[in-house]
Amino acid sequence: MRVLVTGGAGFIGSNYVLQTLAEQSEAHVTVLDSLNYAANRASLDPVADRIEFVVGSTADAAVTEELVARADVVVNFAAESHNDNSLNDPTPFLQSNVIGTWNLLEAVRRHDVRLHHISTDEVFGDLALDDPARFTEETRYRPSSPYSATKASADHLVRAWARSFGIRATISNCSNNYGPRQHVEKFIPRQITNILDGVRPKLYGAGTNVRDWIHVEDHNSAVQAIIEKGTVGETYLIGAECEVDNLTIVRALLRVTGKPEDWFDFVSDRPGHDVRYAIDPSKITDELGWSPRYQDLEAGLEATVAWYSDHRDWWTSAKHATEEVYAQIGR
Ligand code: NAD
Ligand code: DAU
Repeated sequence: MRVLVTGGAGFIGSNYVLQTLAEQSEAHVTVLDSLNYAANRASLDPVADRIEFVVGSTADAAVTEELVARADVVVNFAAESHNDNSLNDPTPFLQSNVIGTWNLLEAVRRHDVRLHHISTDEVFGDLALDDPARFTEETRYRPSSPYSATKASADHLVRAWARSFGIRATISNCSNNYGPRQHVEKFIPRQITNILDGVRPKLYGAGTNVRDWIHVEDHNSAVQAIIEKGTVGETYLIGAECEVDNLTIVRALLRVTGKPEDWFDFVSDRPGHDVRYAIDPSKITDELGWSPRYQDLEAGLEATVAWYSDHRDWWTSAKHATEEVYAQIGR
């Protein structure tokens, strides 16, 4: 199996490459990554001699054409992924998330290559805290931020290419991931590395926003199940039924690191901040028999703290640059 993994130097993509090579010794993996600020090539060091690594962008049609032509399956993780950045400058989000996906669609169409497109639950907008509803495959699209609007656009393109041109594509929309190798701009690694640096964690607004957390390895095992057993043309929602508010996460991290539970600061809120995400994973669990392996969030957080504590070299330079950006926007 020849697998083209776009965005394979990022958080979820690099974990996907490591998992794939651990489980399928015969897989031939090519990574296409533009190496933006969130990429870290060191994430792929353990498999550097087993993969082909191409530095380039999915927004470059010539590159995608050449690489897609010699793949059996494309897994599209490549994206600008951070909401706060999309509020500062949406331009790269349109390039990577929309134009990049369009290029891949045209290439898989020409070469009849199977595509799995990675998307997010944010395309559905948000839910109220007291709403008993969760997102399903039938929920209507209602994205709130420039980031989620570009991810929604990409999903629509994938569906249109599947229906109009018969490309062999699936889509997954996953909830918030945590685990090793996540860029320090994101909520959980930002607070872990703050604590490790002796800085108080920072909660946006009142800390009441709810996210539905899933370990990155569970996201990737679900992606693999869809590639192997999913029905072409279908969408699958991925989630581990773990809704937690941000304040509870910070308190858990403080507990795990032995700090007082009130050792954090509230900072100004994110404009347009989505209140709550929640995934109903019935379709993927019932139809594909997938289930998450990480069921104990506090244990997962403890292991993630240990990973960041043991891999300071992996994140130290990015931490400095990230906190400069946050300082400019007062968060
Ligand atoms: P990330 O920012 O850590 O990694 C993205 C990677 O893609 C980086 O290595 C970057 O260099 C690369 N990239 C960006 N634009 C590119 C382009 N045009 N061509 C080639 N490479 C490009 O992001 P992540 O958190 O690993 O997210 C991966 C995917 O999963 C994204 O599509 C994101 O929307 C989706 N997703 C993320 C989460 C989450 O919680 N992080 C949840 C659901 C879905
Ligand atoms: O739901 C899936 C999405 O999850 C993915 O599509 C995105 O790529 C990924 O970044 C993530 O989006 P969020 O905006 O939910 O993640 P983030 O880590 O930025 O923030 C999580 C929550 O924590 C959110 O309510 C904002 C809050 N937050 C974030 C930071 C960085 C804080 O309270 N303090 C912070 O310092």
